[in-house]
Amino acid sequence: MSSRRIFRPLLALLLIGAAGVYSAAKAQTQPTTPDTMAARVQACAACHGTHGQGTDNDYFPRLAGKPADYLFNQLQNFREGRRKYPPMNYLVTYLSDDYLHQIATYFSQQRPPYPPPGKPTVSSDTLARGQNIVLHGDASRQIPACAACHGKGLTGMEPAIPGLVGLHADYISAQLGGWRSGSRHAIAPDCMHEIATRLTDDDVNAVASWLSTQTAPQNPVPAPARSMKTPLACGSEPQ
Ligand code: HEC
Ligand code: HEC
Repeated sequence: MSSRRIFRPLLALLLIGAAGVYSAAKAQTQPTTPDTMAARVQACAACHGTHGQGTDNDYFPRLAGKPADYLFNQLQNFREGRRKYPPMNYLVTYLSDDYLHQIATYFSQQRPPYPPPGKPTVSSDTLARGQNIVLHGDASRQIPACAACHGKGLTGMEPAIPGLVGLHADYISAQLGGWRSGSRHAIAPDCMHEIATRLTDDDVNAVASWLSTQTAPQNPVPAPARSMKTPLACGSEPQ
Protein backbone atom coordinates (compact mmCIF):
# COMPACT_ATOMS: atom_id res chain seq x y z
CA MET A 1 0.00 0.00 0.00
CA SER A 2 1.44 3.37 -0.92
CA SER A 3 1.65 6.11 1.68
CA ARG A 4 -0.79 8.12 -0.41
CA ARG A 5 -3.43 5.44 0.01
CA ILE A 6 -2.98 5.46 3.75
CA PHE A 7 -2.89 9.22 3.92
CA ARG A 8 -6.03 9.65 1.86
CA PRO A 9 -8.63 8.47 4.39
CA LEU A 10 -6.86 10.34 7.19
CA LEU A 11 -6.97 13.56 5.24
CA ALA A 12 -10.60 12.97 4.40
CA LEU A 13 -11.48 12.49 8.06
CA LEU A 14 -9.73 15.67 9.08
CA LEU A 15 -11.47 17.64 6.38
CA ILE A 16 -14.83 16.18 7.12
CA GLY A 17 -14.64 17.30 10.71
CA ALA A 18 -14.59 20.89 9.52
CA ALA A 19 -17.03 20.42 6.66
CA GLY A 20 -19.50 18.43 8.73
CA VAL A 21 -19.63 20.95 11.56
CA TYR A 22 -20.16 23.63 8.98
CA SER A 23 -23.09 21.92 7.30
CA ALA A 24 -24.72 20.83 10.55
CA ALA A 25 -24.51 24.39 11.83
CA LYS A 26 -26.03 25.56 8.59
CA ALA A 27 -28.89 23.12 8.73
CA GLN A 28 -29.79 24.28 12.23
CA THR A 29 -29.49 27.98 11.63
CA GLN A 30 -31.31 28.21 8.32
CA PRO A 31 -32.79 30.52 7.25
CA THR A 32 -31.22 33.17 9.51
CA THR A 33 -27.64 32.95 8.11
CA PRO A 34 -26.89 34.24 4.61
CA ASP A 35 -27.26 31.22 2.37
CA THR A 36 -25.41 31.83 -0.85
CA MET A 37 -24.20 29.21 -3.29
CA ALA A 38 -20.61 30.33 -2.59
CA ALA A 39 -21.15 29.50 1.11
CA ARG A 40 -22.75 26.15 0.35
CA VAL A 41 -19.98 24.94 -1.89
CA GLN A 42 -17.24 25.96 0.53
CA ALA A 43 -17.83 22.64 2.25
CA CYS A 44 -17.02 20.90 -1.02
CA ALA A 45 -14.06 22.97 -2.21
CA ALA A 46 -11.34 21.27 -0.17
CA CYS A 47 -11.88 18.04 -2.05
CA HIS A 48 -13.59 18.99 -5.32
CA GLY A 49 -12.25 22.52 -5.89
CA THR A 50 -14.40 25.69 -5.78
CA HIS A 51 -15.61 25.13 -9.32
CA GLY A 52 -15.76 21.36 -9.04
CA GLN A 53 -12.62 21.00 -11.12
CA GLY A 54 -11.26 18.29 -8.81
CA THR A 55 -8.03 18.51 -6.81
CA ASP A 56 -4.64 16.89 -7.20
CA ASN A 57 -5.70 14.02 -4.98
CA ASP A 58 -6.11 10.95 -7.20
CA TYR A 59 -9.37 10.02 -5.61
CA PHE A 60 -11.41 13.24 -5.51
CA PRO A 61 -13.48 13.40 -8.69
CA ARG A 62 -14.21 16.31 -11.00
CA LEU A 63 -17.86 17.41 -10.75
CA ALA A 64 -17.84 20.38 -13.16
CA GLY A 65 -19.88 20.01 -16.31
CA LYS A 66 -21.41 16.64 -15.47
CA PRO A 67 -25.16 16.60 -16.18
CA ALA A 68 -27.19 18.04 -13.28
CA ASP A 69 -29.43 15.00 -12.93
CA TYR A 70 -26.37 12.75 -12.77
CA LEU A 71 -24.89 14.83 -9.93
CA PHE A 72 -28.24 15.01 -8.16
CA ASN A 73 -28.65 11.22 -8.40
CA GLN A 74 -25.22 10.76 -6.81
CA LEU A 75 -25.97 13.14 -3.94
CA GLN A 76 -29.17 11.20 -3.28
CA ASN A 77 -27.25 7.93 -3.59
CA PHE A 78 -24.82 9.09 -0.90
CA ARG A 79 -27.65 10.33 1.30
CA GLU A 80 -29.57 7.03 0.99
CA GLY A 81 -26.45 4.82 1.26
CA ARG A 82 -26.51 3.43 -2.30
CA ARG A 83 -22.98 4.79 -2.60
CA LYS A 84 -20.55 4.61 0.28
CA TYR A 85 -17.84 7.09 1.13
CA PRO A 86 -18.26 8.16 4.76
CA PRO A 87 -17.33 11.85 4.36
CA MET A 88 -19.83 12.22 1.49
CA ASN A 89 -22.53 10.19 3.23
CA TYR A 90 -22.13 12.34 6.32
CA LEU A 91 -22.13 15.68 4.50
CA VAL A 92 -25.43 15.16 2.70
CA THR A 93 -27.34 13.30 5.44
CA TYR A 94 -29.51 16.27 6.40
CA LEU A 95 -29.76 18.06 3.08
CA SER A 96 -33.12 18.26 1.28
CA ASP A 97 -33.74 17.26 -2.34
CA ASP A 98 -34.25 20.89 -3.21
CA TYR A 99 -30.90 21.88 -1.72
CA LEU A 100 -29.15 18.97 -3.47
CA HIS A 101 -30.74 19.99 -6.79
CA GLN A 102 -29.39 23.49 -6.49
CA ILE A 103 -25.89 22.26 -5.69
CA ALA A 104 -26.04 19.78 -8.58
CA THR A 105 -27.15 22.52 -10.98
CA TYR A 106 -24.36 24.81 -9.79
CA PHE A 107 -21.61 22.25 -10.49
CA SER A 108 -23.18 21.15 -13.80
CA GLN A 109 -22.86 24.73 -15.06
CA GLN A 110 -19.22 25.23 -14.04
CA ARG A 111 -16.65 25.18 -16.84
CA PRO A 112 -13.19 25.31 -15.21
CA PRO A 113 -10.35 24.08 -17.41
CA TYR A 114 -9.46 20.40 -17.33
CA PRO A 115 -6.24 19.27 -15.67
CA PRO A 116 -3.56 18.03 -18.05
CA PRO A 117 -4.24 14.38 -18.94
CA GLY A 118 -2.54 11.77 -16.78
CA LYS A 119 0.78 10.24 -17.88
CA PRO A 120 0.43 6.56 -18.77
CA THR A 121 1.82 4.23 -16.10
CA VAL A 122 0.95 1.00 -17.94
CA SER A 123 2.27 -0.69 -21.10
CA SER A 124 1.16 0.40 -24.56
CA ASP A 125 -0.57 -3.00 -24.95
CA THR A 126 -2.68 -2.28 -21.89
CA LEU A 127 -3.54 1.19 -23.18
CA ALA A 128 -4.54 -0.26 -26.56
CA ARG A 129 -6.75 -2.78 -24.85
CA GLY A 130 -8.41 -0.03 -22.81
CA GLN A 131 -8.95 2.12 -25.88
CA ASN A 132 -10.48 -0.80 -27.75
CA ILE A 133 -12.98 -1.56 -24.99
CA VAL A 134 -13.94 2.09 -24.56
CA LEU A 135 -14.46 2.75 -28.27
CA HIS A 136 -15.61 -0.68 -29.53
CA GLY A 137 -16.47 -2.87 -26.55
CA ASP A 138 -16.06 -6.65 -26.83
CA ALA A 139 -19.05 -8.27 -28.50
CA SER A 140 -17.83 -11.81 -27.69
CA ARG A 141 -18.24 -10.99 -23.98
CA GLN A 142 -21.30 -8.76 -24.41
CA ILE A 143 -19.40 -5.69 -23.32
CA PRO A 144 -20.81 -2.62 -25.10
CA ALA A 145 -18.53 0.24 -26.09
CA CYS A 146 -18.33 2.72 -23.21
CA ALA A 147 -18.52 5.47 -25.85
CA ALA A 148 -21.97 4.21 -26.89
CA CYS A 149 -23.36 5.85 -23.74
CA HIS A 150 -20.59 8.14 -22.50
CA GLY A 151 -20.09 9.62 -25.98
CA LYS A 152 -17.18 9.61 -28.43
CA GLY A 153 -15.78 12.71 -26.76
CA LEU A 154 -16.35 11.01 -23.35
CA THR A 155 -18.37 14.00 -22.12
CA GLY A 156 -21.51 12.01 -21.23
CA MET A 157 -25.12 12.60 -22.26
CA GLU A 158 -27.96 14.59 -20.73
CA PRO A 159 -29.74 14.10 -18.46
CA ALA A 160 -27.81 11.62 -16.31
CA ILE A 161 -24.75 9.99 -17.96
CA PRO A 162 -21.48 11.50 -16.71
CA GLY A 163 -18.41 12.40 -18.71
CA LEU A 164 -15.40 10.14 -18.12
CA VAL A 165 -12.71 12.59 -19.20
CA GLY A 166 -10.74 14.46 -16.54
CA LEU A 167 -11.01 11.65 -13.96
CA HIS A 168 -8.02 9.90 -12.40
CA ALA A 169 -7.41 6.21 -13.10
CA ASP A 170 -7.64 5.35 -9.37
CA TYR A 171 -11.08 6.94 -9.13
CA ILE A 172 -12.41 5.21 -12.26
CA SER A 173 -11.18 1.77 -11.23
CA ALA A 174 -12.59 2.24 -7.72
CA GLN A 175 -16.02 3.07 -9.15
CA LEU A 176 -16.02 0.05 -11.45
CA GLY A 177 -14.85 -2.02 -8.48
CA GLY A 178 -17.75 -0.59 -6.43
CA TRP A 179 -20.27 -1.77 -8.99
CA ARG A 180 -18.64 -5.19 -9.20
CA SER A 181 -18.58 -5.68 -5.43
CA GLY A 182 -22.02 -4.16 -4.85
CA SER A 183 -20.97 -1.07 -2.86
CA ARG A 184 -22.13 1.34 -5.61
CA HIS A 185 -25.67 1.19 -7.01
CA ALA A 186 -27.55 3.29 -9.54
CA ILE A 187 -31.26 3.55 -10.29
CA ALA A 188 -32.49 0.16 -11.60
CA PRO A 189 -31.99 -1.23 -14.13
CA ASP A 190 -28.38 -0.57 -13.14
CA CYS A 191 -26.64 -0.86 -16.51
CA MET A 192 -23.23 -0.05 -15.00
CA HIS A 193 -23.54 -3.01 -12.64
CA GLU A 194 -24.18 -5.30 -15.59
CA ILE A 195 -21.28 -3.86 -17.57
CA ALA A 196 -18.79 -3.73 -14.69
CA THR A 197 -19.44 -7.36 -13.75
CA ARG A 198 -18.55 -8.41 -17.32
CA LEU A 199 -15.12 -6.78 -17.00
CA THR A 200 -12.07 -8.57 -15.60
CA ASP A 201 -9.53 -6.89 -13.30
CA ASP A 202 -7.25 -6.46 -16.32
CA ASP A 203 -10.07 -4.83 -18.32
CA VAL A 204 -10.76 -2.40 -15.46
CA ASN A 205 -7.09 -1.48 -15.20
CA ALA A 206 -6.88 -1.03 -18.98
CA VAL A 207 -9.98 1.17 -19.39
CA ALA A 208 -9.21 3.27 -16.31
CA SER A 209 -5.61 3.82 -17.49
CA TRP A 210 -6.60 4.76 -21.03
CA LEU A 211 -9.47 7.03 -19.99
CA SER A 212 -7.25 8.95 -17.56
CA THR A 213 -4.80 9.79 -20.36
CA GLN A 214 -7.44 11.37 -22.62
CA THR A 215 -7.72 15.07 -23.39
CA ALA A 216 -11.13 16.74 -23.16
CA PRO A 217 -12.58 17.84 -26.51
CA GLN A 218 -12.78 21.53 -27.45
CA ASN A 219 -16.40 21.85 -26.40
CA PRO A 220 -16.66 19.53 -23.40
CA VAL A 221 -20.43 19.56 -22.87
CA PRO A 222 -22.61 16.44 -22.49
CA ALA A 223 -24.37 15.25 -25.66
CA PRO A 224 -28.07 16.19 -25.87
CA ALA A 225 -30.63 13.84 -24.30
CA ARG A 226 -31.48 10.81 -26.46
CA SER A 227 -28.83 11.69 -29.04
CA MET A 228 -27.39 8.18 -28.55
CA LYS A 229 -29.47 5.04 -28.23
CA THR A 230 -28.02 3.27 -25.20
CA PRO A 231 -27.23 -0.42 -25.91
CA LEU A 232 -28.61 -1.42 -22.47
CA ALA A 233 -31.42 0.16 -20.49
CA CYS A 234 -30.24 2.43 -17.67
CA GLY A 235 -32.70 3.47 -14.97
CA SER A 236 -31.42 7.03 -14.91
CA GLU A 237 -32.13 7.59 -18.62
CA PRO A 238 -35.54 8.46 -20.11
CA GLN A 239 -36.63 5.56 -22.35
C1 HEC B 1 -13.49 14.96 2.32
C2 HEC B 1 -13.50 15.20 0.90
C3 HEC B 1 -14.85 15.53 0.28
C4 HEC B 1 -15.71 16.57 0.59
C5 HEC B 1 -15.56 17.63 1.68
C6 HEC B 1 -16.78 16.51 -0.38
N1 HEC B 1 -16.59 15.44 -1.23
FE1 HEC B 1 -17.83 14.85 -2.71
N2 HEC B 1 -16.68 13.21 -3.03
C7 HEC B 1 -15.50 12.93 -2.40
C8 HEC B 1 -15.01 11.65 -2.86
C9 HEC B 1 -13.71 10.96 -2.44
C10 HEC B 1 -15.95 11.14 -3.79
C11 HEC B 1 -15.92 9.80 -4.51
C12 HEC B 1 -16.40 8.78 -3.49
C13 HEC B 1 -16.61 7.40 -4.02
O1 HEC B 1 -17.69 7.12 -4.52
O2 HEC B 1 -15.70 6.61 -3.95
C14 HEC B 1 -16.98 12.18 -3.89
C15 HEC B 1 -18.05 12.09 -4.75
C16 HEC B 1 -18.95 13.12 -4.98
C17 HEC B 1 -19.96 13.14 -6.02
C18 HEC B 1 -20.15 12.07 -7.07
C19 HEC B 1 -19.22 12.38 -8.23
C20 HEC B 1 -19.38 11.51 -9.42
O3 HEC B 1 -18.84 11.87 -10.47
O4 HEC B 1 -20.03 10.47 -9.34
C21 HEC B 1 -20.65 14.31 -5.90
C22 HEC B 1 -21.79 14.78 -6.78
C23 HEC B 1 -20.06 15.03 -4.79
N3 HEC B 1 -19.02 14.30 -4.26
C24 HEC B 1 -20.48 16.28 -4.36
C25 HEC B 1 -19.99 16.92 -3.23
C26 HEC B 1 -20.57 18.12 -2.68
C27 HEC B 1 -21.76 18.86 -3.29
C28 HEC B 1 -19.85 18.44 -1.57
C29 HEC B 1 -20.08 19.60 -0.62
C30 HEC B 1 -21.40 19.70 -0.04
C31 HEC B 1 -18.81 17.42 -1.43
N4 HEC B 1 -18.93 16.52 -2.45
C32 HEC B 1 -17.84 17.40 -0.44
C33 HEC B 1 -14.87 13.71 -1.46
C34 HEC B 1 -15.43 14.82 -0.85
C1 HEC C 1 -25.68 1.45 -21.48
C2 HEC C 1 -25.03 2.74 -21.22
C3 HEC C 1 -23.63 2.71 -20.61
C4 HEC C 1 -22.52 2.05 -21.10
C5 HEC C 1 -22.40 1.18 -22.33
C6 HEC C 1 -21.45 2.38 -20.18
N1 HEC C 1 -21.89 3.21 -19.19
FE1 HEC C 1 -20.81 3.95 -17.64
N2 HEC C 1 -22.45 4.90 -16.91
C7 HEC C 1 -23.71 4.83 -17.46
C8 HEC C 1 -24.64 5.51 -16.58
C9 HEC C 1 -26.14 5.65 -16.80
C10 HEC C 1 -23.89 5.99 -15.51
C11 HEC C 1 -24.42 6.75 -14.27
C12 HEC C 1 -24.78 5.74 -13.21
C13 HEC C 1 -25.25 6.37 -11.93
O1 HEC C 1 -26.25 7.10 -11.96
O2 HEC C 1 -24.58 6.15 -10.91
C14 HEC C 1 -22.51 5.59 -15.74
C15 HEC C 1 -21.45 5.90 -14.87
C16 HEC C 1 -20.15 5.49 -15.08
C17 HEC C 1 -19.04 5.81 -14.21
C18 HEC C 1 -19.07 6.67 -12.97
C19 HEC C 1 -18.44 8.01 -13.25
C20 HEC C 1 -18.29 8.86 -12.04
O3 HEC C 1 -18.04 10.07 -12.21
O4 HEC C 1 -18.39 8.36 -10.91
C21 HEC C 1 -17.94 5.21 -14.73
C22 HEC C 1 -16.52 5.23 -14.18
C23 HEC C 1 -18.34 4.51 -15.93
N3 HEC C 1 -19.70 4.70 -16.12
C24 HEC C 1 -17.48 3.80 -16.74
C25 HEC C 1 -17.89 3.07 -17.87
C26 HEC C 1 -17.01 2.24 -18.65
C27 HEC C 1 -15.52 2.07 -18.38
C28 HEC C 1 -17.76 1.69 -19.64
C29 HEC C 1 -17.34 0.69 -20.71
C30 HEC C 1 -16.70 -0.52 -20.23
C31 HEC C 1 -19.11 2.19 -19.47
N4 HEC C 1 -19.15 3.03 -18.39
C32 HEC C 1 -20.17 1.87 -20.29
C33 HEC C 1 -24.06 4.22 -18.63
C34 HEC C 1 -23.23 3.43 -19.42
